[in-house]
Amino acid sequence: MEGKVHLVTGGSRGIGRAISLALAGEGDVVYFNHFDPDEDAATETVQMLKDRGVEAFGLKFDVGDPDRVKAWVAEAFEAQGKIDNLVNNAGITMDALLVRMTPEQFERVIRVNLTGAFFCLQAAAKVMMKQRAGSIVNLASVAGVMGNPGQANYSASKAGLIAMSKTAAKELAARGVRVNAVAPGFIETEMTAAVPEKLAEMMKSMIPLGRAGQPEDVADVVAFLCSDAARYVTGQVIHISGGLYM
Ligand SMILES: NC(=O)c1ccc[n+]([C@@H]2O[C@H](COP(=O)([O-])OP(=O)(O)OC[C@H]3O[C@@H](n4cnc5c(N)ncnc54)[C@H](O)[C@@H]3O)[C@@H](O)[C@H]2O)c1
Repeated sequence: MEGKVHLVTGGSRGIGRAISLALAGEGDVVYFNHFDPDEDAATETVQMLKDRGVEAFGLKFDVGDPDRVKAWVAEAFEAQGKIDNLVNNAGITMDALLVRMTPEQFERVIRVNLTGAFFCLQAAAKVMMKQRAGSIVNLASVAGVMGNPGQANYSASKAGLIAMSKTAAKELAARGVRVNAVAPGFIETEMTAAVPEKLAEMMKSMIPLGRAGQPEDVADVVAFLCSDAARYVTGQVIHISGGLYM
């Protein structure tokens, strides 16, 4: 098959939608999942991809469910015969100060952001190791490097993703599979729309490039990491934060 096969978690909206659009060219196939309450954003993303000549399948399931993840990856592989790229983008926040954070808040965020990415990575790695090619990109965050008040769960999940990316990069390199992470700063999506305005303004004022990021700012770097132009890049963490972290 000539076209590329891309798997993107959390691809219905925000950064995941931008990644799906940036990765896929005419003749490619995108499988994305999401866990939105409704299908509106997913349906729109499928249409946007189809308008570009990309075959697109959006499916609702929880990335923290290992059986659903296995079935999803198997379905893509059985239908297409290969998987070129996996982007672990699905992520949530459940912010609370450390002393007030409930076990449920801590565990749910780890489950989706870190364990869910592990399930996808494991299932895709089995395919990619056999085909001796593939690229995996994990969406970390500057919070996983710098820490962020109210985000003990989130920052731990993102730091875990960085460490897991490096381990996977070392384990899979000999089989021609590359694994990298990106660490976005403050990107304007539904996730950051929930940040109180005063706090958002304060965060933006700390960004050297002088503006919040857009989903496409992240998607372009992810597309680069998945492309042949990045064939000698593995185990790296690329910060996409307008200089917030340097
Ligand atoms: N927006 C930012 O400023 C920012 C900064 C750093 C990192 N990130 C990371 O980038 C990624 C995308 O963030 P965004 O801002 O586009 O978020 P968003 O809330 O706009 O979109 C999140 C996507 O993940 C999906 N999702 C949520 N829970 C899921 C689950 N259990 N199973 C499957 N899919 C699920 C949603 O359906 C949606 O498609 C996340 O991993 C986030 O942590 C975002």
